This record gives sequence, C-alpha cells and structure tokens, in this order.
Amino acid sequence: MKRTILVTGGAGFIGANFVLAWFKLGLGTVVNLDKLTYAGNLENLASIRQNTQHIFVHGDIGDQALVAQLLAEHQPDAVINFAAESHVDRSIHGPEDFIQTNVVGTFHLLEAVRAYWDALDVDQQERFRFLHVSTDEVYGSLGAAEAAFTENHTYAPNSPYSASKAASDHLVRAYHHTYGLPTLTTNCSNNYGPYHFPEKLIPLIIHNALAGKALPIYGTGQQIRDWLYVEDHCAAIRRVLEAGRVGEVYNIGGWNEKPNIEVVKTLCRMLDEKKPRADAKSYMDQITFVEDRLGHDQRYAIDASKIANELGWKPEQSFESGIEETVDWYLAHQDWVANVTSGDYRNWVQKHYAERGEELA
Ligand code: NAD
Ligand code: TYD
Repeated sequence: MKRTILVTGGAGFIGANFVLAWFKLGLGTVVNLDKLTYAGNLENLASIRQNTQHIFVHGDIGDQALVAQLLAEHQPDAVINFAAESHVDRSIHGPEDFIQTNVVGTFHLLEAVRAYWDALDVDQQERFRFLHVSTDEVYGSLGAAEAAFTENHTYAPNSPYSASKAASDHLVRAYHHTYGLPTLTTNCSNNYGPYHFPEKLIPLIIHNALAGKALPIYGTGQQIRDWLYVEDHCAAIRRVLEAGRVGEVYNIGGWNEKPNIEVVKTLCRMLDEKKPRADAKSYMDQITFVEDRLGHDQRYAIDASKIANELGWKPEQSFESGIEETVDWYLAHQDWVANVTSGDYRNWVQKHYAERGEELA
C-alpha cells in the first residue's frame, strides 16, 4: 500500500539515498524537509526533480509552525527523522549547531508531531509512526575484547555529536513513554556509499587520492568502525517502518568491523587498479599519519541480531562489493564531487587539517 511520509534531512547522504530508493520502489509520496546546510545538496535529488510525488520544502525541523503546517497539509502516516548535524570533527570545533538541530530541533519536531498525532482518528493513530534515525556512537567506545553493542548497551556518548544524538534518542523514548507517540528508533553503524559528503573518511580518502593530496589518518589508524552500505541501511529503515514494534529500538549494522588503516589501504588498492596514478606509483604513498581526534572512540561494533531475528533483515552487500560500488560511483560522479567541494568545503578542510600541520585544501 502506498503511503505519504514526511522525511527530514532528505537532501543529505543517507536521507537522499532513502528518498531515491523510496521512489525507485514506487512506495508513495515524500514530503522532504531539509535546511540545506553545507551537508544538504539538492543535486543529490536531481533524478527526481520532475517527480510530482516528491515535495521538497526548504526549512528547519526546529520551525515548529512550519512542521505543523506541513503535517496538516499533507497528512503523512509516518515521519522519518534523518535531519541532523552529523560530523564528529565539526562537533569538536563547534558543538552549538549540534545542540540546536539534534536536541532542540528534534524536540520541536516531536512537539509538532505529537500535536498532529493527537488530533488523528484512532485508525490513523494506530497506523502512524515516528521513526528516529540514530547512531551506534551513542553507546560510546568498545574495548577490543568487548561484545558488540546490543540495544540494551548503556548509553555513554563521548563526543558533542554523539551526546546530542543520545539526547534526541532519549526525547523520542520519552515521547513514546509519556504521550504514547508511536515511535521507532534505529541506531546504525558507519554508512558508506554514493552521495557521501567528502568530509567523512571514505569519500575524503577517494577525493584526496585522486587530487594527489595527503590521505590523513588520525593517530595510529587502528580505530575500528563497523561499515554498512547505505542502501542496506535504507532497506533496514523501511523494514523497521513496516514491521518494527512500536516503542522499540533496533540496532543496524553490517558485521563489518575494520581498522581505519585497512579501509584506507583497500581504497588505495582499488584506485591503483581502476584509476592508476600518472607516475604508476601506489596511492598508498599519499598516506599521512596526522594528530589524533580529541576523545577519539576506539571501536564501534553493532550486534544486529534483533533486527535479523525479529524482522528478517540482513545486509545484501559485503564490504568488498559495497566498497567497489562506492569507488565506481565516485569515479563516475566527479562532477558531483567538484560541486559539493567548492565554497565552504575548502574552508573547512583548510581549517581542520591545518591544525594537524597538513595543507590539504
Ligand atoms: P548528513 O550530514 O549527510 O545530512 C544531514 C541532512 O540534514 C542534510 O541534508 C542537512 O541539510 C539536513 N539538516 C541539518 N540540519 C537540519 C535542520 N535543522 N532542519 C532540517 N534539515 C537539516 O547526514 P547523514 O550522514 O545523511 O546522516 C543522517 C542521519 O543518520 C543523522 O541523523 C545521523 O546522525 C544518522 N546516522 C548517520 C550515520 C553515517 O554513517 N553517516 C550512521 C548512523 C546514523
Ligand atoms: P568519520 O567518517 O568522520 O566517521 P565517525 O567519526 O562518525 O566514525 O571517521 C571514521 C573514522 O576515520 C574515525 O575513526 C576517524 C577516522 N578519520 C581519519 O582517520 N581521518 C580523517 O580525515 C577522517 C575524516 C576520519
């Protein structure tokens, strides 16, 4: 059955992939509310520009009156909240935007949704869902021998980013517990794939390698992340939306733990094959160890048994197939990369990496 959903942050990396897949599958109408920060690009949605079922609205999740108006006008049967400030390094330089959007913004969004949901008839109330997209980073950092994060793992966020996401998760939980709002929360591991903004590790390394710049590895490069191809994350969100138990939390992950240095070397090997350097040397020569991130979490790992057992979801891509698709996508979309890395992006890279003694811009 077709539905109308309100997606927030649908011009960003995961949100855009989600919206594009939604239309590919012909699942219904999307009202897409996005503030178009540096991380939001309408170009990500260019292929659905003519689609009348895609209603793009430029605005802030913290604008409660706007959200209330959109809900009243379009009567969605679900809200999926992707909108957030999402980059840990930016949260270290300037946490305030993270508090504004991830905490205060989510609060205003919840308030607007609660008022809308309260006024629905009983059938519509039963059907409605508020799905909050969150991160494994709320659980903090794991030691090498510790078991992967389950949904019952204690919250222990370590960065301003993860603390702000943890706060938003708690608000969502409270709106279910207190007001009965039919919420679902997903906590996912690190995503990668098309439309990933090149400030995050994987697209940054591809971008810098091709530009002949240093490939910056924080600290020793032995930190571990659990990587999931973005389309698998989107499929998991659709599955939780369709069949998740109201009020529940679902961890989403790819069982793909890799040290950062290994990810970077894999990318170098792949680029050596697909787009060899003019001097025939390896891109590995560009690897540069730089000053570590403040408070750098050592290891994230997701135990995705609950979503697998309850909802039958599992990732389709292995890390090897997903990373190859990703590299191919970036090689074929250098125009997209050129567009999103103009302007503000240069200022960010210059400021952030200059502090580490690297001239990367
Ligand atoms: P992103 O930074 O690429 O995109 C965020 C989008 O939200 C952008 O389009 C931006 O313009 C929009 N936005 C920001 N503030 C807004 C506001 N106040 N109102 C409306 N729109 C606003 O982020 P992403 O990587 O696509 O992440 C999406 C969500 O998934 C986030 O909530 C993030 O915490 C979560 N998440 C991300 C990852 C990952 O690896 N990227 C993993 C797990 C969870
Ligand atoms: P990132 O992509 O920023 O995601 P997150 O911090 O949310 O996990 O970083 C992934 C890992 O890569 C993290 O351990 C930090 C590291 N990293 C580098 O070593 N160099 C870089 O230039 C960046 C951006 C990240």
